[in-house]
Amino acid sequence: MKLPGHPDVAYRDGQLHLDDLPLRELAARFGTPLYAYSRRAMLAALAPYQRALAGREHLICYAMKANSNLAVLQTFAQAGCGFDIVSGGELERVLAAGGDARKVVFSGLGKTRAEMARALEAGVRCFNVESEPELEVLAEVARAHGTRAPVSLRVNPDVDAKTHPYISTGLKGNKFGVAHDRALHAYRRAAELPGLEVVGIDCHIGSQITESDPYLDAIDRVLDLVEAIESQGLRLHHLDLGGGLGITYTDEAPPAADALIARMLERIDARGHGHREIVLEPGRSLVGNAGVLLTEVLYLKSGEAKNFCVVDAAMNDLMRPAMYEATMAIVPATLRDAAPSTYDVVGPICESGDWLGRDRALAVQAGDLLAVLSAGAYGMSMASNYNSRGRAAEVLVDGDQAWLIRDREDPRALFAGEHLPPAR
Ligand code: LLP
Repeated sequence: MKLPGHPDVAYRDGQLHLDDLPLRELAARFGTPLYAYSRRAMLAALAPYQRALAGREHLICYAMKANSNLAVLQTFAQAGCGFDIVSGGELERVLAAGGDARKVVFSGLGKTRAEMARALEAGVRCFNVESEPELEVLAEVARAHGTRAPVSLRVNPDVDAKTHPYISTGLKGNKFGVAHDRALHAYRRAAELPGLEVVGIDCHIGSQITESDPYLDAIDRVLDLVEAIESQGLRLHHLDLGGGLGITYTDEAPPAADALIARMLERIDARGHGHREIVLEPGRSLVGNAGVLLTEVLYLKSGEAKNFCVVDAAMNDLMRPAMYEATMAIVPATLRDAAPSTYDVVGPICESGDWLGRDRALAVQAGDLLAVLSAGAYGMSMASNYNSRGRAAEVLVDGDQAWLIRDREDPRALFAGEHLPPAR
């Protein structure tokens, strides 16, 4: 059986392996639901980014919202990456994992004063500012700290990334960034404010993008602005082109990262901007295909119109299907020599939206294990405790080794911080 886009997940003698470990063994050792990530696959996904940018000033800032486990961050920090963060919490994770604050870009449209202050103390490399009011507040916070905040404005290039509306961010109607026609004005203001130091410009047009053209359109729009801004005497050092490259979940065919970057650089060079430092913020494409969610089949249930395969993972563990109607491949950990039936794969949560896959042909029995593929991005990082479910455990795999990188959450820990008022 061919598993699209999952070179590190393959069947050997009917057993699905991640690297050199049978998933069945991981489940026996660590229990289910279980997230398992291949370190090799993460580094293999990073390599084409590094190759394509070699020889030019650049920084790859892993967008850690995709998967923020400390061991994942350590993997990328050790490989030389910086991080794209969107909260004070993410900054603390970077520091705890041994990441370098000087390689951190701080994105997000609702930074609080406290988050700004902490990021200034830590010495982040750049604040990606998303509005004019945010500029004013950042300048004030920086002055109160006796320092200047390095800033880049996130501009909204108004291009269609041709992806799901919930993960498209570069259109006029989106809440992100500074409108293209306000950007020049905002840069002038930034240059005036003594608490700020303008260092770059950035954009991010969406996520799970499977075509190159939206990136090239965005580059053109951003470079138009760069030229307008510099003609006013301002200097911009870096160009941050965000993240967003898609992966293969089932039959999507996104461009390879190195091919895409080559085209982007070609466009940048052709317009005479080849001297600029390039910053990228890939998330999904570095970790998505490196991870699986392992789950046990609890019951097979025949409904009037449908068959259900009830598993022990649920929408709280993996929100993407419920939230975006995302289709993710679901395959058995052990192949059975039996005719498949069609099931909706559903979790135990009391919501009709709690499904992981619809109308899937599976040859399974209760007690079998299923793997949801491409679950390394926006899986665990979006998990919740709905229905008072403790979150899954996570393991990192490298070759034939596996390390527990996050304990399974004890449901009692969920209410450890709750307090009863005095008895009445
Ligand atoms: N930079 C910024 C400013 C972003 O907002 C994002 C993602 C990224 C970089 C990384 O994008 P990526 O390379 O991962 O596509 N939860 C959704 C995806 C939301 C993406 C939000 N922003 C999903 O599961 O599909």
